[in-house]
Amino acid sequence: MKTEIFNYNLEKYNFTKIIQDFLEVEDLSEIAIDKKKVMEEGNSLYKNMEQTEHYKNLYEALNSDKGAIFYKSYKQFIQEVIRPQYNEPILYQEKPTHRILFKNGEGVSRFHRDSDYGHKQAEINYFLPQTPAFDTNTLWIESEIGKEDFMPIDLKPGQFARFKGVSLKHGAKNNQTHKTRVSFDFRVIPISQKPEQIVDTTSWKEEDKKNFLFNNAHNFVLAE
Ligand SMILES: [Fe+2]
Repeated sequence: MKTEIFNYNLEKYNFTKIIQDFLEVEDLSEIAIDKKKVMEEGNSLYKNMEQTEHYKNLYEALNSDKGAIFYKSYKQFIQEVIRPQYNEPILYQEKPTHRILFKNGEGVSRFHRDSDYGHKQAEINYFLPQTPAFDTNTLWIESEIGKEDFMPIDLKPGQFARFKGVSLKHGAKNNQTHKTRVSFDFRVIPISQKPEQIVDTTSWKEEDKKNFLFNNAHNFVLAE
């Protein structure tokens, strides 16, 4: 499966607006890191991201009653836009993973395949930015397994990318664009791949069960 870009109706599934409201900002591209407050945990982009006020506020909103606004749109989007891409029911991440690649956040994200983190071969990834995502603020993916010819996935709100993150190497670079990228991503498994491909949660470590990012990445529900 080649990496592919699709359009969707941003007025109908207005994730950008919902996330702007959660963060109480007008322009998500301009949100910045408060460097003094961020702990330098090994210079990891995503570890730093998790320490920021914006990121904590976003998850606080998602986990509160307000979060229902987002999850209602997300579920509708899955049923109406993603499910029709398959000719069978799918399992999808019940809660997507949100990311903020700050315009002034330095650091590196290790290029990886999701299989490095225990993800299964049947999983298919989706990436939806809520800001323009381009150049060094977007996701970079190799074109074929093992080629390592990483290219930036250029997207704007109202577009999404579908890619095989389990086998294609991908990652984020040091953001030199002076624009923040806000996005969410999730994974889908065609139902015919079940049960061999579904993650067995009974083997999870206690610390993983408490980590909502880990939980979101591995908790799948059915779209018939
Ligand atoms: Fe990944």
